[in-house]
Amino acid sequence: MRIRYEMPADIDTIHDLTSIAFAPMPFSEGTEAEIVRKLRANGDLTISLVAEEEGEILGHVAFSPVTIDGVHGGWFGLGPISVKPERQRQGIGKALIVRGLELLMEMGASGCALIGNPDIYNRVGFSSDGQLTYLDLDTRLVQRIVLRGPAPSGAIRFAPAFES
Ligand SMILES: CC(C)(COP(=O)(O)OP(=O)(O)OC[C@H]1O[C@@H](n2cnc3c(N)ncnc32)[C@H](O)[C@@H]1OP(=O)(O)O)[C@@H](O)C(=O)NCCC(=O)NCCS
Repeated sequence: MRIRYEMPADIDTIHDLTSIAFAPMPFSEGTEAEIVRKLRANGDLTISLVAEEEGEILGHVAFSPVTIDGVHGGWFGLGPISVKPERQRQGIGKALIVRGLELLMEMGASGCALIGNPDIYNRVGFSSDGQLTYLDLDTRLVQRIVLRGPAPSGAIRFAPAFES
């Protein structure tokens, strides 16, 4: 399996993969595939990686700019992230995240944040100190990894694609 940047020919596959991966998730509103398309259309898909094995795309992750208390400050959001259902829990999501974080670090990013299940993201270095908030969500679900500079505090806002 290799992790590489998305190419134009991957776009429809990424859409289908994202729809299929999120479909069984109780928290999903079924909008994630469209969010990826909107991020791309808006120029907010800073990093888009796929996991490929023998020509088949098994996973995808998107990274896009976020603001904290209205300031970008070199922070990015992770997601949506999807792995083909029958290939989940085999390290593919982790490989996508690790590579994405390496690329963010190379770009000089300050850090990366996400909303998600701590059981999964703590395993790849994300944590919450309660200082980063998202609407009125339990701050344990608002996780971040600091790559450079101080730990952030304030209200996080994701790219417009997540809101429309
Ligand atoms: C979430 C998702 C991307 C994770 O990808 P994955 O390839 O299954 O995850 P990995 O196998 O790389 O697991 C990474 C770590 O998280 C843990 N983990 C993965 N899924 C988990 C789950 N449902 N509950 C608890 N821990 C989990 C793994 O044990 C692993 O830890 P380890 O390396 O210490 O063993 C994938 O399950 C998915 O596509 N889910 C549906 C869409 C979704 O929910 N996306 C995320 C929304 S926040």
